[in-house]
Amino acid sequence: MKIGIFDSGIGGLSVLHLAMKMMPCEEFLYYADESHVPYGEKTEEEILRYVKENLDFLVSKGAEAIVIACNTATSVATKEFRSRFPVPIVGMEPAVKKALELYRDEEKRILVAATPVTIAGDKLHDLLERVDRGHEADLVSLPWLVRFAEKGEFSSREVDDYLKEELGAFDLAEYSALVLGCTHFNYFKERFRHVFPNPVHFVDGNEGTVRQLLRVLPGKPGTVGDGKVSYYFSGRGAYVDEKERLAYCLKQLERVYYIQ
Ligand code: DGL
Repeated sequence: MKIGIFDSGIGGLSVLHLAMKMMPCEEFLYYADESHVPYGEKTEEEILRYVKENLDFLVSKGAEAIVIACNTATSVATKEFRSRFPVPIVGMEPAVKKALELYRDEEKRILVAATPVTIAGDKLHDLLERVDRGHEADLVSLPWLVRFAEKGEFSSREVDDYLKEELGAFDLAEYSALVLGCTHFNYFKERFRHVFPNPVHFVDGNEGTVRQLLRVLPGKPGTVGDGKVSYYFSGRGAYVDEKERLAYCLKQLERVYYIQ
């Protein structure tokens, strides 16, 4: 079975990594829409257009199910396209419910970090109304982490200064958990650890997303054979599967292993 996974860039590799672990015999198509990253600073109209192009591309490559490994794109577009494509589409949202279930603490709060589009979106606010009845979650948008990640800058003075600046308004000792509500943020756990005064639990939506994928797949995942991944990148007006970009992606995938 061919499974398509896309993100604006390298963030969704963390979802791919888990999907490969949970379905080792499947064939994956990973698509990074690098000519339009960062989505989190774009308009809804633009994101809708990109998502449609990405879905069309993956379907044209034979994807039988698609994961939108991007909270921002899901926030804007999943509802819109779910019924209009011939294959199941799975989106992702900040794992606030999981964070509250696992790490609710009377004395502490939950911090949800995501892109500006996700933070402002109705989808997140509807979710909070449903699951955060005690108003225990606070929100922060960290758009530059996406830019840093795409530059391959995961650990630098600039990253630390940026986090300190953006999180300066929060009393970080108050939080028991940090929800990584953007797939790119997985790469910065080490820097978050450095900035938070106490140990903090990281919560992402990757596992829930892959479990949902397993539920909607049109068939049972295979149990024999080696899995395979093809990487595609938008850019320079063409969809390409370039050696150099592939090497970069594999390097980032290794990084995902490292940050677990
Ligand atoms: N990785 C994405 C997300 O989960 C989008 C980042 C961006 O392009 O701004 O929201």
